[in-house]
Amino acid sequence: MNLKSPIRFILNDQEVTAWETPGRLVLDYLRDSERLTGTKEGCKEGDCGACTVLLGSLDKGRVRYVPMTSCLIPMGELMGKHLVSIEGLNMEMLSPVQAALVDCGGTQCGYCTPGFVVSMTGWLMDETQALDAGGVKIAISGNLCRCTGYRSIKEAGEQVLDKLASGLSGENRITDLCQKEALPAYFETIPERLAALEHPENSDFNIEGGRPLVIAGGTDIYVQRGAEIPETPVQLLNSGDAVPPVVEADGNLIVDARMSFQAFGDDPLIQEAIPEIQAYNYLIASWPIRTRATLGGNICNASPIADMTCLLLALDAQLSVEGGDEPRHLALKDFFLGYKQLAKIEEEVIKTIEFGKPDGSTRIHWEKVSKRPVLDIATVNSAARFEVDGSFIKEAHLALGGVAAIPLYLHETCQFLSNQSLTAELVMEAVAIAQTEFQPISDVRGSADYKRLLARQLLLALFLKCFPEVISEEVVYEAL
Ligand SMILES: Cc1cc2nc3c(=O)[nH]c(=O)nc-3n(C[C@H](O)[C@H](O)[C@H](O)COP(=O)(O)OP(=O)(O)OC[C@H]3O[C@@H](n4cnc5c(N)ncnc54)[C@H](O)[C@@H]3O)c2cc1C
Ligand code: FES
Ligand code: FES
Repeated sequence: MNLKSPIRFILNDQEVTAWETPGRLVLDYLRDSERLTGTKEGCKEGDCGACTVLLGSLDKGRVRYVPMTSCLIPMGELMGKHLVSIEGLNMEMLSPVQAALVDCGGTQCGYCTPGFVVSMTGWLMDETQALDAGGVKIAISGNLCRCTGYRSIKEAGEQVLDKLASGLSGENRITDLCQKEALPAYFETIPERLAALEHPENSDFNIEGGRPLVIAGGTDIYVQRGAEIPETPVQLLNSGDAVPPVVEADGNLIVDARMSFQAFGDDPLIQEAIPEIQAYNYLIASWPIRTRATLGGNICNASPIADMTCLLLALDAQLSVEGGDEPRHLALKDFFLGYKQLAKIEEEVIKTIEFGKPDGSTRIHWEKVSKRPVLDIATVNSAARFEVDGSFIKEAHLALGGVAAIPLYLHETCQFLSNQSLTAELVMEAVAIAQTEFQPISDVRGSADYKRLLARQLLLALFLKCFPEVISEEVVYEAL
C-alpha cells in the first residue's frame, strides 16, 4: 500500500512539498531527508527535548508557535503550518539566546543545546508566557542536559530576560524579536506566506480500505508503537480544523476531545471553573508535552494513572462518541471496562467531553504523588468534586489513579457521602469504605501497601482542601 501523500508547509524560510507517509516522524524527516541535523535524536520518547522544534499555525492573521518534540509529531500534521528547526533560528550573529548560553557556560558537549535554544526562543515568542524566572523554568521544563547541571542554563535564561524582556510588548512579541535581531527577519513574512500556501489534492490522507490508527497528540501512541506507525494508515485528529475553545451550553462546559492539556489549562472558562488548573498542569509532564497531549488521548490510552482522566472522572464528565452505527453519549465513569479495555468499538472516536459548570457551591481538588515532585508520572493520583450547601454534601464524586487496573471512580464511597452532613467521623468512614473499593498491585512505582497508604493520604488531602472549615489536620491526626 502506498501511503505517501504530498504535504505542503513552510520549513524554516522555504515553502516545501514533502512526499511522505503522514505517520512518519518529523524528527526522521528533518535529519534523514532534509539533513537538518541540528535537531538531535535522544530518547525518541518525548522525555529529553533534544529534538524540540516550533510548530506555527495561522490563527486570525497571526502565527502562533508552540514548542513540540519532533520525535512525536507525524508529518501529516505539518500541512499548512510553519515548521521551525534550530537552523531556522540561526542568523549571521548568535541570537541573544544563543549568546547567553555561551556567555553563561550553558553549553558543554552541546548535544542538548539546540533543544534549549528552540524552547527558550519559543517561550520569548509566546505572549501567554510570563517573562520572569518562573517562566524560564517552564520554558526549559522539557529539556534535559547531562553536562551542565542546569544552573548555567537558568542563568542564561535570566540574562536573556535582562536583555530583552522590557522591550517585548504583550501584543506582538514576534515583531519585537525580529526588530531586536533575536529572530530572523523572515518570521515577519510567515503569516502572509502561510495564508497563500495552497493545499495539494489528497491532503486528508484518506486511504481506501484498512482501518486507520487514530492519532491525536501522539504522546502515547508513538512511544508504544513508534516503529510501525510510519507504514500504517493513520487518522490524524490534529491535522484538520483548529481546536475550538471550551464553550458553555445549558450549564455545562463542552470541551473538544482534541484539546491539549496546555490549552485546557489556559482556557478562560476552565480557569474560572477550576481556579487551580494551572497549578495542576504544572505537575503534569513538561511544557512541550502539555502542548501535544490531548484529553481524548489521555482517556483512550486508559492508563490507570492518567492525570487528566482522574480529574475528569471526578468532574463526572460525559463523553460524546462518533464513528459507530450512530453517535452516542456515555459517562466517563462507565468507559473503562478492564485494563486498557474501553466501552467503545475501534472505529469510535471521542468528540467532546462535557461536565456541569462548577459554581459557588462546588468544591474541586486534584492531588498527585510521584517519585519526583514535577515532570513525573503519578504513583497515585486523586480528585474530588463536591456539590455542597454549607457543610451538607449534596453530591460527591471521587476518583483514584494508580490503585487498580483502570482509572477508578469510587462508586460506593460517592454514594455513601452524598446527602450527608460532613463531619470528621464521616470523612474517616468514607476513607475506610474507599479502601474496600480497590486492590493495588506492587510495581516499579511502589509496593501495594505504599499505594494503599498514599491513597488514604490523598483522599484525606482532598477533604482537607475542600472543607477546611469542617476538618483540620489536627482532627485527622487524632482520628488516625
Ligand atoms: C514525556 C512524557 C510525559 C508524560 N507525562 C504524563 C503525565 O505526567 N501525566 C499523564 O497523565 N500523562 C503523561 N504522559 C502521557 C500522555 O502524554 C497522555 O496520556 C496524553 O494525554 C495522551 O494524549 P495524546 O493525544 O498524545 O494521545 P495519542 O498518543 O495520540 O493517543 C493515545 C491513544 O488514544 C487514542 N485516541 C486519541 N485520541 C482519541 C479520541 N479522541 N478518540 C478515540 N481514541 C483516541 C489513540 O488511538 C491511542 O490509542 C506523558 C507522555 C510523555 C511522552
Ligand atoms: S528525542 Fe528525546 S524528546 Fe525527542
Ligand atoms: S551540554 Fe551536554 S547534554 Fe547538555
